[in-house]
Amino acid sequence: MDQLRLDRIIFIGRTFNEYIKMFNLNANMLRNKKLLDCPAGACAFASKGKAMGIHIKSCDIAYYFDKQELFEKGKADINHAMEGIKQTSNLYNWTYFNDIQELKQARNQALEACYSDMLINESDYLAVRLPDLPYENNSFDLLLSAHFLFMYAEHLDYEFHLACLNEMLRVAKDEIRIFPVVDLSGKPYQYLHEILTYINDLGHETELIKVDYEFQKNAHTMLKIKVNNNTSVLY
Ligand SMILES: C[S@@+](CC[C@H](N)C(=O)[O-])C[C@H]1O[C@@H](n2cnc3c(N)ncnc32)[C@H](O)[C@@H]1O
Repeated sequence: MDQLRLDRIIFIGRTFNEYIKMFNLNANMLRNKKLLDCPAGACAFASKGKAMGIHIKSCDIAYYFDKQELFEKGKADINHAMEGIKQTSNLYNWTYFNDIQELKQARNQALEACYSDMLINESDYLAVRLPDLPYENNSFDLLLSAHFLFMYAEHLDYEFHLACLNEMLRVAKDEIRIFPVVDLSGKPYQYLHEILTYINDLGHETELIKVDYEFQKNAHTMLKIKVNNNTSVLY
């Protein structure tokens, strides 16, 4: 196993509202459901959602680190990311966020909300190293995964994607939603067809759904997997 280093973690996250939009969710329908945000990074989805009665657990490799150090790293990562986005602003649609200031404010709010929730609800934040997920079978009604699979195709190979999906299918009871289905350059994930065939062959249903959120150009579609619990295939 590679040694974990904080300087190799980028601790950035999205707001509750971005999650609602990118995953085409209705917050009212999630009340009393069990959700897993995987990997959750510095997202505000869990902290806000819990206040609304949604049971959300978060997992990420970053949670192996000290919370205060992570928070400081997150602040630095936001500043660094904003510089990068300024140089490549043509790759983004400036409609959801009007400008870089609004974007920076949203990222800081998400980080602060995540950090506060980590301090209060420590046990909701589990350090994991995907593809392994240390949860029981069928633990969550819905598993959400944003900006990880497909997006980092350059660093995460096809076998790693399959291993993550197998674990996600094992711990999810009803549904998995993954956003987006493009890589960092905005190109569709190279092996998307093979991934869909793989999941369908296991007996689960897949659907690609265009959503009302496209900050990075071309990142507008999520993969919805309806988990078939009666499948005879053993993971
Ligand atoms: C771009 S962030 C996405 C966070 C959040 N889902 C969002 O949409 O803002 C990717 C996250 O993946 C986490 N990560 C990277 N490799 C991982 C692994 N092997 N296991 C678990 N988490 C990992 C990083 O720490 C980071 O928080």
